[in-house]
Amino acid sequence: MKNFTLLGGLSPAQFLRDYWHKKPLLIRQAIPGFKPLLSADALFKMAARDDVESRLITHFKQEWKVENGPIATVPAISKKDWTLLVQGVNLHDDMADALLRQFSFIPDTRLDDLMVSYATDTGGVGPHFDSYDVFLLQAHGQRRWKIGAGQDLTLVQGSALKILKNFTPEQEFVLEPGDMLYLPPQYAHDGTAIGECMTYSIGFRAPAFQELGEAFLQFMADSIDLPGRYADADLAPTKHPAEIGRNMLSQISDALNKVRFTDDDVAIFVGEYLSDPKATVFFESPPRPLTLSRFTAAIAKRGVSLSRKTQMLYRGKHLFINGESFAAGREDKASLCVLADNRKLDGQAASVVSKDVLEALYTWYEDGWINLG
Ligand code: SIN
Ligand code: CO
Repeated sequence: MKNFTLLGGLSPAQFLRDYWHKKPLLIRQAIPGFKPLLSADALFKMAARDDVESRLITHFKQEWKVENGPIATVPAISKKDWTLLVQGVNLHDDMADALLRQFSFIPDTRLDDLMVSYATDTGGVGPHFDSYDVFLLQAHGQRRWKIGAGQDLTLVQGSALKILKNFTPEQEFVLEPGDMLYLPPQYAHDGTAIGECMTYSIGFRAPAFQELGEAFLQFMADSIDLPGRYADADLAPTKHPAEIGRNMLSQISDALNKVRFTDDDVAIFVGEYLSDPKATVFFESPPRPLTLSRFTAAIAKRGVSLSRKTQMLYRGKHLFINGESFAAGREDKASLCVLADNRKLDGQAASVVSKDVLEALYTWYEDGWINLG
Protein backbone atom coordinates (compact mmCIF):
# COMPACT_ATOMS: atom_id res chain seq x y z
CA MET A 1 0.00 0.00 0.00
CA LYS A 2 1.14 3.52 -0.85
CA ASN A 3 2.72 5.30 2.09
CA PHE A 4 1.80 8.87 2.84
CA THR A 5 4.52 11.42 3.60
CA LEU A 6 1.64 13.46 4.99
CA LEU A 7 1.17 10.86 7.72
CA GLY A 8 4.85 10.20 8.32
CA GLY A 9 4.98 6.99 6.30
CA LEU A 10 1.71 5.59 7.63
CA SER A 11 -1.08 4.69 5.28
CA PRO A 12 -4.40 6.42 5.99
CA ALA A 13 -5.72 3.05 7.20
CA GLN A 14 -2.84 2.63 9.69
CA PHE A 15 -3.20 6.21 10.88
CA LEU A 16 -6.95 5.85 11.40
CA ARG A 17 -6.53 2.52 13.18
CA ASP A 18 -3.75 3.54 15.57
CA TYR A 19 -3.98 7.32 16.08
CA TRP A 20 -7.25 8.88 14.94
CA HIS A 21 -9.31 9.77 18.02
CA LYS A 22 -6.79 7.82 20.12
CA LYS A 23 -3.36 9.38 20.51
CA PRO A 24 -1.20 12.23 19.22
CA LEU A 25 1.19 11.85 16.32
CA LEU A 26 4.11 14.10 15.53
CA ILE A 27 5.06 14.00 11.84
CA ARG A 28 8.35 15.63 10.97
CA GLN A 29 8.28 17.04 7.42
CA ALA A 30 4.74 15.89 6.69
CA ILE A 31 4.94 18.32 3.77
CA PRO A 32 8.66 18.64 2.97
CA GLY A 33 9.76 22.17 2.11
CA PHE A 34 6.34 23.57 2.97
CA LYS A 35 5.97 27.30 2.32
CA PRO A 36 3.09 29.41 3.66
CA LEU A 37 0.23 29.64 1.17
CA LEU A 38 -0.44 33.27 1.97
CA SER A 39 1.61 36.06 3.48
CA ALA A 40 0.92 37.61 6.88
CA ASP A 41 -0.31 40.74 5.08
CA ALA A 42 -2.76 38.74 2.98
CA LEU A 43 -4.00 37.09 6.18
CA PHE A 44 -4.47 40.47 7.91
CA LYS A 45 -6.47 41.67 4.88
CA MET A 46 -8.62 38.55 5.04
CA ALA A 47 -9.29 39.11 8.77
CA ALA A 48 -10.65 42.60 7.97
CA ARG A 49 -13.41 41.18 5.71
CA ASP A 50 -16.89 40.76 7.12
CA ASP A 51 -17.47 37.48 5.28
CA VAL A 52 -14.48 35.93 7.09
CA GLU A 53 -14.55 34.64 10.67
CA SER A 54 -11.55 35.90 12.63
CA ARG A 55 -10.38 36.58 16.20
CA LEU A 56 -7.56 38.57 17.69
CA ILE A 57 -6.16 37.17 20.92
CA THR A 58 -3.81 39.24 23.04
CA HIS A 59 -2.01 38.34 26.22
CA PHE A 60 -0.64 41.72 27.20
CA LYS A 61 0.23 42.33 30.87
CA GLN A 62 -0.86 38.76 31.78
CA GLU A 63 -4.44 39.41 30.67
CA TRP A 64 -6.15 37.35 27.96
CA LYS A 65 -8.36 39.40 25.64
CA VAL A 66 -10.38 38.27 22.64
CA GLU A 67 -11.68 40.53 19.90
CA ASN A 68 -14.04 38.99 17.37
CA GLY A 69 -13.61 39.93 13.73
CA PRO A 70 -13.71 41.67 11.38
CA ILE A 71 -10.31 42.83 12.65
CA ALA A 72 -9.56 46.15 10.95
CA THR A 73 -6.13 46.67 12.52
CA VAL A 74 -3.75 44.29 14.22
CA PRO A 75 -1.24 45.27 16.94
CA ALA A 76 2.32 46.17 15.87
CA ILE A 77 4.38 43.24 14.52
CA SER A 78 7.13 44.33 16.92
CA LYS A 79 4.81 43.77 19.90
CA LYS A 80 5.05 40.29 21.48
CA ASP A 81 2.29 37.99 22.58
CA TRP A 82 -0.61 38.34 20.22
CA THR A 83 -2.30 35.92 17.81
CA LEU A 84 -4.63 36.43 14.89
CA LEU A 85 -6.86 33.45 14.04
CA VAL A 86 -8.61 33.28 10.67
CA GLN A 87 -11.17 30.48 10.13
CA GLY A 88 -12.26 29.00 6.82
CA VAL A 89 -9.26 30.21 4.80
CA ASN A 90 -9.99 27.31 2.42
CA LEU A 91 -13.23 29.06 1.40
CA HIS A 92 -11.29 32.01 0.01
CA ASP A 93 -8.06 30.60 -1.34
CA ASP A 94 -7.53 27.82 -3.90
CA MET A 95 -4.26 26.59 -2.43
CA ALA A 96 -5.72 26.46 1.07
CA ASP A 97 -8.63 24.46 -0.34
CA ALA A 98 -6.19 22.08 -2.08
CA LEU A 99 -4.32 21.61 1.22
CA LEU A 100 -7.53 20.72 3.04
CA ARG A 101 -8.42 18.24 0.28
CA GLN A 102 -5.18 16.34 0.99
CA PHE A 103 -7.06 15.08 4.04
CA SER A 104 -9.94 13.69 2.00
CA PHE A 105 -9.19 10.16 3.19
CA ILE A 106 -11.46 11.41 6.00
CA PRO A 107 -15.09 11.96 4.90
CA ASP A 108 -16.21 15.46 3.88
CA THR A 109 -18.88 15.25 6.58
CA ARG A 110 -16.07 15.32 9.19
CA LEU A 111 -13.77 17.84 7.57
CA ASP A 112 -14.41 21.37 8.81
CA ASP A 113 -11.97 24.01 7.69
CA LEU A 114 -8.45 25.34 7.49
CA MET A 115 -7.75 27.88 10.20
CA VAL A 116 -4.61 29.97 9.89
CA SER A 117 -2.99 31.58 12.90
CA TYR A 118 -0.36 34.28 12.90
CA ALA A 119 1.49 34.99 16.14
CA THR A 120 4.28 37.25 17.24
CA ASP A 121 6.99 35.96 19.59
CA THR A 122 5.54 34.17 22.67
CA GLY A 123 2.04 34.43 21.19
CA GLY A 124 -0.48 31.62 21.61
CA VAL A 125 -3.99 30.94 22.82
CA GLY A 126 -2.98 29.43 26.17
CA PRO A 127 -3.23 25.84 27.44
CA HIS A 128 -6.59 24.42 26.36
CA PHE A 129 -8.34 21.47 24.78
CA ASP A 130 -10.61 21.30 21.75
CA SER A 131 -13.66 19.10 21.23
CA TYR A 132 -12.46 18.05 17.79
CA ASP A 133 -9.51 16.29 16.20
CA VAL A 134 -6.96 18.62 14.65
CA PHE A 135 -3.82 18.50 12.51
CA LEU A 136 -1.52 21.42 13.39
CA LEU A 137 0.74 22.10 10.44
CA GLN A 138 3.60 24.51 11.01
CA ALA A 139 3.63 26.88 8.04
CA HIS A 140 6.17 29.55 8.94
CA GLY A 141 8.65 30.07 11.79
CA GLN A 142 8.73 27.83 14.83
CA ARG A 143 6.18 26.95 17.48
CA ARG A 144 6.73 25.06 20.72
CA TRP A 145 3.89 22.67 21.50
CA LYS A 146 3.39 21.27 24.99
CA ILE A 147 0.81 18.53 25.19
CA GLY A 148 -0.65 16.28 27.88
CA ALA A 149 -3.20 13.45 28.17
CA GLY A 150 -5.65 12.72 30.99
CA GLN A 151 -5.65 16.28 32.26
CA ASP A 152 -7.81 17.95 34.83
CA LEU A 153 -10.12 19.80 32.42
CA THR A 154 -11.08 22.53 34.93
CA LEU A 155 -10.96 25.96 33.28
CA VAL A 156 -9.75 29.26 34.65
CA GLN A 157 -12.89 31.10 35.84
CA GLY A 158 -13.77 34.48 34.38
CA SER A 159 -11.21 34.37 31.54
CA ALA A 160 -12.17 35.57 28.07
CA LEU A 161 -10.63 32.36 26.72
CA LYS A 162 -11.01 28.70 27.65
CA ILE A 163 -7.76 28.26 29.58
CA LEU A 164 -6.91 25.12 31.57
CA LYS A 165 -6.37 25.89 35.24
CA ASN A 166 -3.95 23.06 35.98
CA PHE A 167 -2.16 22.08 32.77
CA THR A 168 0.74 19.64 33.26
CA PRO A 169 2.48 19.04 29.96
CA GLU A 170 3.90 15.58 29.35
CA GLN A 171 5.62 16.09 26.01
CA GLU A 172 7.15 19.04 24.27
CA PHE A 173 8.12 19.57 20.62
CA VAL A 174 9.34 22.46 18.54
CA LEU A 175 7.72 22.38 15.11
CA GLU A 176 9.49 23.71 12.01
CA PRO A 177 7.77 24.58 8.71
CA GLY A 178 6.35 21.39 7.18
CA ASP A 179 6.12 19.54 10.53
CA MET A 180 2.66 18.53 11.69
CA LEU A 181 1.13 17.45 14.98
CA TYR A 182 -2.10 15.44 15.12
CA LEU A 183 -4.13 15.73 18.32
CA PRO A 184 -7.25 13.77 19.20
CA PRO A 185 -10.27 15.52 20.78
CA GLN A 186 -9.93 16.67 24.42
CA TYR A 187 -6.14 16.40 24.31
CA ALA A 188 -4.66 19.35 26.23
CA HIS A 189 -2.18 21.50 24.33
CA ASP A 190 -0.40 24.80 24.46
CA GLY A 191 1.41 26.26 21.44
CA THR A 192 3.78 29.18 21.84
CA ALA A 193 5.38 31.05 18.98
CA ILE A 194 9.19 31.18 18.96
CA GLY A 195 9.60 34.42 17.08
CA GLU A 196 6.97 35.27 14.48
CA CYS A 197 5.09 32.17 13.29
CA MET A 198 2.14 30.85 11.34
CA THR A 199 0.32 27.60 12.08
CA TYR A 200 -2.39 25.96 9.98
CA SER A 201 -5.09 23.96 11.77
CA ILE A 202 -6.86 21.35 9.69
CA GLY A 203 -10.02 21.13 11.76
CA PHE A 204 -12.81 18.59 11.91
CA ARG A 205 -16.43 18.73 12.90
CA ALA A 206 -18.39 16.28 15.01
CA PRO A 207 -21.89 17.58 15.62
CA ALA A 208 -23.29 17.20 19.14
CA PHE A 209 -26.35 14.91 19.34
CA GLN A 210 -28.30 17.66 21.13
CA GLU A 211 -27.66 20.04 18.22
CA LEU A 212 -28.67 17.34 15.74
CA GLY A 213 -31.79 16.47 17.75
CA GLU A 214 -32.98 20.06 17.83
CA ALA A 215 -32.34 20.52 14.12
CA PHE A 216 -34.01 17.18 13.32
CA LEU A 217 -37.21 18.20 15.10
CA GLN A 218 -37.31 21.39 13.04
CA PHE A 219 -36.72 19.37 9.87
CA MET A 220 -39.51 16.96 10.79
CA ALA A 221 -41.88 19.88 11.49
CA ASP A 222 -41.92 20.53 7.74
CA SER A 223 -42.79 16.98 6.82
CA ILE A 224 -45.11 15.52 9.47
CA ASP A 225 -48.67 14.88 8.44
CA LEU A 226 -51.20 14.39 11.26
CA PRO A 227 -54.76 14.57 9.93
CA GLY A 228 -57.76 15.08 12.23
CA ARG A 229 -58.53 17.38 15.11
CA TYR A 230 -59.37 16.99 18.77
CA ALA A 231 -63.03 16.07 19.30
CA ASP A 232 -65.21 15.52 22.40
CA ALA A 233 -68.72 14.57 21.35
CA ASP A 234 -69.30 12.95 24.79
CA LEU A 235 -68.14 15.99 26.85
CA ALA A 236 -69.64 16.09 30.40
CA PRO A 237 -69.99 19.27 32.53
CA THR A 238 -66.90 20.08 34.63
CA LYS A 239 -66.49 21.48 38.16
CA HIS A 240 -62.81 22.28 37.41
CA PRO A 241 -62.79 24.35 34.24
CA ALA A 242 -59.05 25.09 34.51
CA GLU A 243 -58.02 21.44 34.61
CA ILE A 244 -56.73 19.79 31.43
CA GLY A 245 -59.01 16.81 30.84
CA ARG A 246 -57.61 13.26 30.86
CA ASN A 247 -59.48 12.53 27.62
CA MET A 248 -57.87 15.54 25.94
CA LEU A 249 -54.39 14.43 27.01
CA SER A 250 -54.83 10.86 25.86
CA GLN A 251 -56.24 11.86 22.46
CA ILE A 252 -53.32 14.25 21.90
CA SER A 253 -50.83 11.72 23.14
CA ASP A 254 -52.20 9.10 20.70
CA ALA A 255 -51.93 11.60 17.85
CA LEU A 256 -48.36 12.61 18.71
CA ASN A 257 -47.36 8.98 18.98
CA LYS A 258 -48.21 8.68 15.28
CA VAL A 259 -45.21 10.90 14.47
CA ARG A 260 -42.78 8.52 12.82
CA PHE A 261 -39.53 8.89 10.98
CA THR A 262 -37.82 6.51 8.63
CA ASP A 263 -34.13 5.90 7.85
CA ASP A 264 -34.75 7.90 4.68
CA ASP A 265 -35.93 10.90 6.72
CA VAL A 266 -32.73 10.65 8.79
CA ALA A 267 -30.56 10.39 5.66
CA ILE A 268 -32.23 13.43 4.07
CA PHE A 269 -31.94 15.41 7.30
CA VAL A 270 -28.25 14.54 7.80
CA GLY A 271 -27.38 15.33 4.17
CA GLU A 272 -29.20 18.67 4.20
CA TYR A 273 -27.85 19.59 7.61
CA LEU A 274 -24.22 18.70 6.99
CA SER A 275 -24.11 20.24 3.52
CA ASP A 276 -25.69 23.50 4.70
CA PRO A 277 -23.19 26.36 4.33
CA LYS A 278 -22.14 28.25 7.45
CA ALA A 279 -23.82 31.61 8.07
CA THR A 280 -20.71 33.49 6.90
CA VAL A 281 -20.64 31.80 3.48
CA PHE A 282 -21.78 33.85 0.49
CA PHE A 283 -21.66 32.54 -3.06
CA GLU A 284 -20.69 34.77 -5.95
CA SER A 285 -22.57 34.42 -9.22
CA PRO A 286 -20.54 34.71 -12.43
CA PRO A 287 -20.50 38.39 -13.49
CA ARG A 288 -21.74 37.60 -17.01
CA PRO A 289 -23.29 34.13 -16.96
CA LEU A 290 -23.45 32.16 -20.20
CA THR A 291 -26.84 31.29 -21.65
CA LEU A 292 -28.02 27.72 -21.06
CA SER A 293 -27.06 26.63 -24.58
CA ARG A 294 -23.56 28.13 -24.33
CA PHE A 295 -23.19 26.65 -20.86
CA THR A 296 -24.15 23.22 -22.25
CA ALA A 297 -21.51 23.49 -24.97
CA ALA A 298 -18.90 24.80 -22.51
CA ILE A 299 -19.32 22.01 -19.95
CA ALA A 300 -19.07 19.36 -22.69
CA LYS A 301 -15.63 20.79 -23.48
CA ARG A 302 -14.32 21.83 -20.09
CA GLY A 303 -16.38 19.97 -17.51
CA VAL A 304 -17.44 21.51 -14.21
CA SER A 305 -16.02 21.78 -10.71
CA LEU A 306 -17.53 22.57 -7.33
CA SER A 307 -16.91 26.00 -5.90
CA ARG A 308 -14.53 25.99 -2.89
CA LYS A 309 -17.55 26.92 -0.76
CA THR A 310 -19.82 24.12 -2.00
CA GLN A 311 -20.45 21.03 0.07
CA MET A 312 -21.89 18.15 -1.96
CA LEU A 313 -22.75 14.83 -0.32
CA TYR A 314 -24.75 11.74 -1.19
CA ARG A 315 -26.34 8.71 0.39
CA GLY A 316 -28.26 6.01 -1.47
CA LYS A 317 -30.41 7.70 -4.09
CA HIS A 318 -30.21 11.06 -2.33
CA LEU A 319 -27.87 13.84 -3.33
CA PHE A 320 -27.26 16.97 -1.31
CA ILE A 321 -25.74 20.27 -2.25
CA ASN A 322 -25.46 23.31 0.02
CA GLY A 323 -28.38 22.29 2.22
CA GLU A 324 -30.70 21.13 -0.58
CA SER A 325 -31.58 17.54 -1.40
CA PHE A 326 -32.86 15.77 -4.47
CA ALA A 327 -33.13 12.25 -5.83
CA ALA A 328 -31.51 11.27 -9.13
CA GLY A 329 -31.94 8.39 -11.55
CA ARG A 330 -29.21 5.73 -11.77
CA GLU A 331 -27.21 7.17 -14.67
CA ASP A 332 -27.32 10.71 -13.34
CA LYS A 333 -26.48 9.52 -9.87
CA ALA A 334 -23.23 7.98 -11.06
CA SER A 335 -22.09 11.28 -12.62
CA LEU A 336 -23.22 13.36 -9.66
CA CYS A 337 -21.43 11.07 -7.18
CA VAL A 338 -18.22 11.54 -9.21
CA LEU A 339 -18.77 15.31 -9.03
CA ALA A 340 -19.34 15.08 -5.26
CA ASP A 341 -16.34 12.81 -4.55
CA ASN A 342 -13.80 14.40 -6.91
CA ARG A 343 -15.30 17.89 -6.77
CA LYS A 344 -15.11 17.94 -10.56
CA LEU A 345 -16.61 16.24 -13.56
CA ASP A 346 -14.91 16.02 -16.94
CA GLY A 347 -16.50 17.20 -20.16
CA GLN A 348 -17.32 13.68 -21.35
CA ALA A 349 -19.28 12.85 -18.16
CA ALA A 350 -20.86 16.30 -18.00
CA SER A 351 -22.22 15.98 -21.53
CA VAL A 352 -24.26 12.84 -20.91
CA VAL A 353 -26.38 13.97 -17.94
CA SER A 354 -30.17 14.15 -18.28
CA LYS A 355 -32.00 17.38 -19.11
CA ASP A 356 -33.08 17.72 -15.45
CA VAL A 357 -29.51 17.47 -14.17
CA LEU A 358 -28.27 19.81 -16.88
CA GLU A 359 -30.82 22.37 -15.71
CA ALA A 360 -29.76 21.83 -12.08
CA LEU A 361 -26.09 22.29 -13.07
CA TYR A 362 -27.01 25.49 -14.85
CA THR A 363 -28.83 26.85 -11.79
CA TRP A 364 -25.85 25.96 -9.60
CA TYR A 365 -23.58 27.72 -12.07
CA GLU A 366 -25.79 30.84 -12.02
CA ASP A 367 -25.74 30.76 -8.21
CA GLY A 368 -21.96 30.39 -8.03
CA TRP A 369 -22.12 26.86 -6.54
CA ILE A 370 -20.16 25.35 -9.44
CA ASN A 371 -17.63 26.69 -11.91
CA LEU A 372 -16.81 25.87 -15.51
CA GLY A 373 -13.70 23.79 -15.98
C1 SIN B 1 -3.01 28.39 17.14
O1 SIN B 1 -2.74 28.07 15.98
O2 SIN B 1 -2.47 29.36 17.69
C2 SIN B 1 -4.00 27.65 17.97
C3 SIN B 1 -4.34 26.32 17.47
C4 SIN B 1 -4.84 25.44 18.59
O3 SIN B 1 -4.26 25.38 19.64
O4 SIN B 1 -5.87 24.77 18.45
CO1 CO C 1 -6.39 23.98 20.13
